[in-house]
Amino acid sequence: MNKINNLFKNKVYQKTPIWFLRQAGRHIPEYYSIRSRAKNFIDFCLNEELIVESTKLPLKYYNLDAAIVFSDILMIPWAMNRNVKFTKNVGPTMDPMLPNESKIIKNINIPLLLKPLENSIKTLRRDLPPSICLIGFSGAPWTLACYMIEGQSSKDFINTRKAIWGSNVWFQELIETLVIYITDKLEMQAKAGADVLMIFDSWSHMIPNNFFKNLAIDPIAKIIHLLRSRNINIPVIGFPFKSGGSLIKYSYESNVDCVALDWTVNLSWALENINPSIAIQGNLDPSSLIPEHNPFLRENVESILKKMKDRKFIFNVGHGLTPECRIDSVKQVIEIVKEFEI
Ligand code: CP3
Repeated sequence: MNKINNLFKNKVYQKTPIWFLRQAGRHIPEYYSIRSRAKNFIDFCLNEELIVESTKLPLKYYNLDAAIVFSDILMIPWAMNRNVKFTKNVGPTMDPMLPNESKIIKNINIPLLLKPLENSIKTLRRDLPPSICLIGFSGAPWTLACYMIEGQSSKDFINTRKAIWGSNVWFQELIETLVIYITDKLEMQAKAGADVLMIFDSWSHMIPNNFFKNLAIDPIAKIIHLLRSRNINIPVIGFPFKSGGSLIKYSYESNVDCVALDWTVNLSWALENINPSIAIQGNLDPSSLIPEHNPFLRENVESILKKMKDRKFIFNVGHGLTPECRIDSVKQVIEIVKEFEI
């Protein structure tokens, strides 16, 4: 069994597993030649050969314990006909939904529309050694609703927040619909061969505090409940990005098996406050991998490992690797983690 699933199964484990958020992306030069073989980013995410190749790409460079299947959280809005586009230097855009007015399309067959993703996972699970954990993922309902209402990224997601207050019935219907589509997508990935699932809530820090339980915790608990009722029992990692003190409640009530921490979280605080019965993933600052010389890197990685030595812990970055991250620095971090004796 791979080290990550082993960690979830057993209390005692020998070595800290390691992988990186956005490990398959733009910090590896070869990524660009793979991407150039697709007409656009959506076609890339629907092309089995390219998905398989880009998922394997970081394993060519690094001694990692996991591969995350190449796709994007915005493939659900794409399947919901929101006209999703990824434009260079602009980022993702789509037709914005008008609260109370835009129709929320029901009964979409997500597994059918994302068939290439399913086939890629089947191929990857066959091709990859059993020691590599294959991770499937989805965006969280709130984060997908943010993109769908704004139509793009935003500094404050004001239209989405306005919709919570002024169009709550419509908004809840959107969240409920997304819960179903996300569950369908995660179920499909698990059945195809994913070993672990991860739910990205990249904009959870935008939720008005009194709605945090309603929008960041309850929908995740519902997704996990639905997965379990469909006999999907593999571990789920939740990532409520920059949620600060709300991480405590999230760790107890969302039912995730592991909480991924962003780079702002103090690990001593996390050890004292996060639900001790779940695992923790994180939380190296990805920007520490950008400078040519970072005199703090070794000390920082070792300090994370020392703090987390008595905890079920997966080493990772506290948000995705960016294009500027250095391959040498990523390699150095992996070496430090692999050499460290718990
Ligand atoms: O390496 C991996 O982790 C593989 C797959 C992956 C991608 N996106 C590929 C991708 C994963 C897990 C994601 C998740 C994702 N996508 C999130 C959640 C994580 C996070 O970063 O908070 C979000 C918010 C998105 C939405 C998205 N997709 C944005 C905002 C962008 C623009 C570029 C960026 O990185 O900000 C994308 C495009 C995208 N998704 C790229 C990749 C490799 C870059 C596309 C390119 O320019 O080639």
